[in-house]
Amino acid sequence: MTLAEKLGQLQQLDGEGNGNFRPEHRELARKGLLGSTLNVRGAPRTNELQRIAVEGSRLKIPLLFGFDVIHGYRTIFPVPLGEASSWDPTVAEKSASIAAAEARAAGVHWTFAPMVDIARDARWGRIVEGSGEDPYLGSIMARARVRGFQGNDYSAPDRVLACAKHWVGYGAAEGGRDYNTTDIPEGALRQVYFPPFKAAVDEGVGTFMSAFNDLDGVPSSANPFTLTKVLRGEWKFDGFVVSDYTAVQELIQHGVAANGSDAARLALNAGVDMEMVSRLYNENGSELLRAGQLSRATIDEAVRRILRIKFRVGLFEHPYADESRERSVILSAANIAAARDIAARSIVLLKNERETLPLNKNVRSIAVVGPLADDQVDVLGSWTGDGNAADAVTLLAGIRAKASSTTKINYAKGCDIDGSSTAGFDDAVRVARESDLVIVAIGESAAMSGEASSRSSLDLPGRQLDLVKALQATGKPVVVVLMNGRPLTINWIVENAPAILETWFAGSQAGNAIADVLFGDVDPGGKLPVTFPRSVGQEPLYYNHMNTGRPPDVNNKYTSKYLDVPWTPLFPFGYGLSYTQFRLSNLRTSAARIRYDQRVNITVSVEIENVGSRAGDEVVQLYIRDVAASVTRPVKELKGFQRVTLRPGEKRSTEFILGTEQLGFYDRDMRFVVEPGEFKMMVGTSSADPHELVTSLEVEK
Ligand code: NOJ
Repeated sequence: MTLAEKLGQLQQLDGEGNGNFRPEHRELARKGLLGSTLNVRGAPRTNELQRIAVEGSRLKIPLLFGFDVIHGYRTIFPVPLGEASSWDPTVAEKSASIAAAEARAAGVHWTFAPMVDIARDARWGRIVEGSGEDPYLGSIMARARVRGFQGNDYSAPDRVLACAKHWVGYGAAEGGRDYNTTDIPEGALRQVYFPPFKAAVDEGVGTFMSAFNDLDGVPSSANPFTLTKVLRGEWKFDGFVVSDYTAVQELIQHGVAANGSDAARLALNAGVDMEMVSRLYNENGSELLRAGQLSRATIDEAVRRILRIKFRVGLFEHPYADESRERSVILSAANIAAARDIAARSIVLLKNERETLPLNKNVRSIAVVGPLADDQVDVLGSWTGDGNAADAVTLLAGIRAKASSTTKINYAKGCDIDGSSTAGFDDAVRVARESDLVIVAIGESAAMSGEASSRSSLDLPGRQLDLVKALQATGKPVVVVLMNGRPLTINWIVENAPAILETWFAGSQAGNAIADVLFGDVDPGGKLPVTFPRSVGQEPLYYNHMNTGRPPDVNNKYTSKYLDVPWTPLFPFGYGLSYTQFRLSNLRTSAARIRYDQRVNITVSVEIENVGSRAGDEVVQLYIRDVAASVTRPVKELKGFQRVTLRPGEKRSTEFILGTEQLGFYDRDMRFVVEPGEFKMMVGTSSADPHELVTSLEVEK
């Protein structure tokens, strides 16, 4: 390869907004000066450009077509935060596998997913794209998604190459403001932010994306510690790293590069192999090489990594997409059915007083109200791939399809998601009065979360809360259906509405899935993957925090809390109700003591019984606490969970295998250690379950 051809492999360029490639891409592909594109999709189009690279260029190296297939390609599944609420990795694997099959059929080889950033601040709009606040749940979901996208062999016609992003710390943006600086000590990096990425590597993820953020003074896209020492050295990752969009060029704005040449030198030497959109590698590579600021070996290694992945994607054997497959695979009946099932499994029941839910299918009349009740656009969430609003089933449509033919459905929008008008309130109140009960769909627009969509308030936007108050004043039972991309401070609603369902943005089949849950055909078994605060001022608020020397105490002013809001969350991590009730009993461990240097698996078992009168789902959660260690440890850490479905009266034993290494942590010298001492083990149905069972394990010297 000539130097120009090598640098060409390191270049990724963006297509046009509509999925087409740009005229210059033809020329670049012909000359071998383009390695990859993003956003170019559709089998005929990718084939057209691919043909130029494969048949028209000197070395015939195929192009790699990348696209953000985040929660579905055309069939849209719940947003990742919603899917994480299923606490069911099989759900995430399934949706990723369907997304992969649809995307690959449309000529896409590579998705920029999963996003595995831990997010502890709900102001950050991109919290919606990940699995929430917990490294363990995040790791399980990361593995499931990588497995779903890539399968065992991502050269298969129904799989795509995955990309763990954004490496690293992006979710810790100060103040929750997107793209902002992050300041994360190495211990926290290793214990909180790294694990889902490591899990993705263990699952064989082929690529990483380097993040936008500055991490402890070094932008993530120019950080040799994370990109090379950890990723290559410690983890032996042999895929390639792509920068985030223009992140190489942004090193200039960060103030670590004086110009484009500097930026290219820093990023490539740090370990960013492919440059997304900016062209600084290509513009400056040969000069940097001549000046001795970049070695030929570095360039060769980046090229080698990219070509290795192109081989694994199967591009050299099968460069073209099968155009007939695209039509049969996309939005198939099976995919739509899976979207409905997965969306229903992702719903979290936050409140249900006086058995308001499930609804009786023969109820005489229902008022369906709210700005999101008949909205086909927002319900898809952000990053909708090639999703089409016209395919989406709204809540109103879902309820109409599910309720009996004699049930009268009265619809009123009430107000917009945002804005100050209350002009629709009268109509909403009128339909509420004419009905036996009210279902009100409120929340955020899809554009209020996702990239560049941070908010300083977690309140419901616009006049939506006033709308709920007006409906509540009618005296009719009001069921609140939330559609949102982040935790919201909905205190008044929690105090006053009898029933609340958190549905996030549930995707193409949202309305059908929510109706399945509202009418009790599916039991709501989801759990929150993220803490809901009472006030935005509590953020960042997360369950696995350190204890402080002064844990909060109502009777003592001089403890760690606020004057104006309780220290507790509105809803804790891991929380969610069911239409039935469960009881845990008989917590047992296979050993009460082990030696600290013993590599053993401890079995923790507990019995769970459905003590209610309906079949339903519960998620049994195992937490540990290292009581005294050489560094402070979290008050609780999730180490295992299982979602079970039980018939009324059914009792089952669930088991968790806890390896010794799950008791370990990074000490002051960043050595991974398991220290002697007492470990508490807690099993419950949320991170703050008043009925949790507790036992302990002694690790002996
Ligand atoms: C910027 C986003 O940060 C990243 O997540 C995405 O994959 C790229 N743009 C490509 O669209």
